[in-house]
Amino acid sequence: MNFQDLIYTKRDGGVLSEEQIKWFINGFTKNEIPDEQAGSFLMAIFFQGLNKQELNYWTNAMVNSGEKLDLSTVGKPTVDKHSTGGVGDKISLPLCPLVASFGAGVPQLSGRGLGTFGGTLDKMESVEGFNISLSNNQMINQLKDVGVFISAAGVGLAPADRKMYSFRDVIGAVECIPLIASSIMSKKIAEGTQSLVLDVKAGRGAFMKDVSRAKQLAETMVEIGNAAGVKTIALITQMETPLGNAVGNALEVSESIEVLNGKGPADVVELTLALAQEMLELAGIKKDPAMALKDGSAFATWKKMITAQGGNPEAKIPVADKKENILAPKAGYITDLDAYAIGLSAWRLGAGRAKKEDIVSKTAGIICLAKEGDFVEKDQPVLELHIDDPARLPMAKEALKTAFTIGSEPCEKRKIILERIS
Ligand code: URA
Repeated sequence: MNFQDLIYTKRDGGVLSEEQIKWFINGFTKNEIPDEQAGSFLMAIFFQGLNKQELNYWTNAMVNSGEKLDLSTVGKPTVDKHSTGGVGDKISLPLCPLVASFGAGVPQLSGRGLGTFGGTLDKMESVEGFNISLSNNQMINQLKDVGVFISAAGVGLAPADRKMYSFRDVIGAVECIPLIASSIMSKKIAEGTQSLVLDVKAGRGAFMKDVSRAKQLAETMVEIGNAAGVKTIALITQMETPLGNAVGNALEVSESIEVLNGKGPADVVELTLALAQEMLELAGIKKDPAMALKDGSAFATWKKMITAQGGNPEAKIPVADKKENILAPKAGYITDLDAYAIGLSAWRLGAGRAKKEDIVSKTAGIICLAKEGDFVEKDQPVLELHIDDPARLPMAKEALKTAFTIGSEPCEKRKIILERIS
């Protein structure tokens, strides 16, 4: 096959065959395609897109570039969740044990954060002793025994995506819906789950800034999942303002534990229960997820999961030594609390990383003491900064200059769930 033909075909808006797609993914994974050709080809896709058929072939080839987890021996309906990520998005932590407490198997393969947010694995590592690198056998055994794990994927899973994601970053081809959708879905399909609920975030604190792009991404992923035999639905959810009060790794674990104990911020509880309802339905389990937060079974499953992964569920979640408050300059209602500014500030405090190799702070972050719609008095603390490295504080505070607005009229809380795509 002549690789230049593939480039010309896509560059000129043509359609690729299954054979051509398989050939590219295979050669790319094995480092057999020169970077300048792979870069030019992916850029042609960036501009011309992939049609539905091409996208299914593409995703399949990515899945087949490595191993597929075989969850057939687990003996439970399997269902997973993926979020495109947002500021304060800790939902996987309460959600996965909650759903597992009803008898579903939840194989939560997660990642670390890049850019503004800490990822689920970064959060879980603030639990003392918690091992985020399980072998495939440990994953399967834990699904049988506990019903849930949270782990990094093994290197054998979708290696084409592992290479392509960082390659796209370097060549400036990340923000491309077919490439994002196939990247996310190839990992979830290779994970072997029977069904999947996607939380696609829209807003200034998310990857997708506007609802129409988020919807396009959600529809594309739902189509890919269902075509591959994974029952998939998506919720489009609001990410203009932080989710919950806590932003930062250990802070988000503590907030998740509150939710698992039947407390926690209303928006986190609402989204956890909405996603849980969808997951249980796909798993064929007709139960009210709220029960598991009330009767302690979700928290019991969380503790079992921590113990099974070498962690200490009784250990105190670490807290920063130093705190500083940002005060309200006047009395009034918080009419806007900007997820992007809060995420950037938490990131500057050390809660996120700029490069893959960076180490994130467990304790740095921000607690939103007041949220949109709340009334504050003059000089009342609005944001509580948790500081691990004081040298980072000035830049973190700089990001907060326009993080909230105070008005004289009350405003409504934003709707969390904007749309459902099935
Ligand atoms: N997350 C992924 O896993 N892949 C992308 O391409 C973008 C976000």
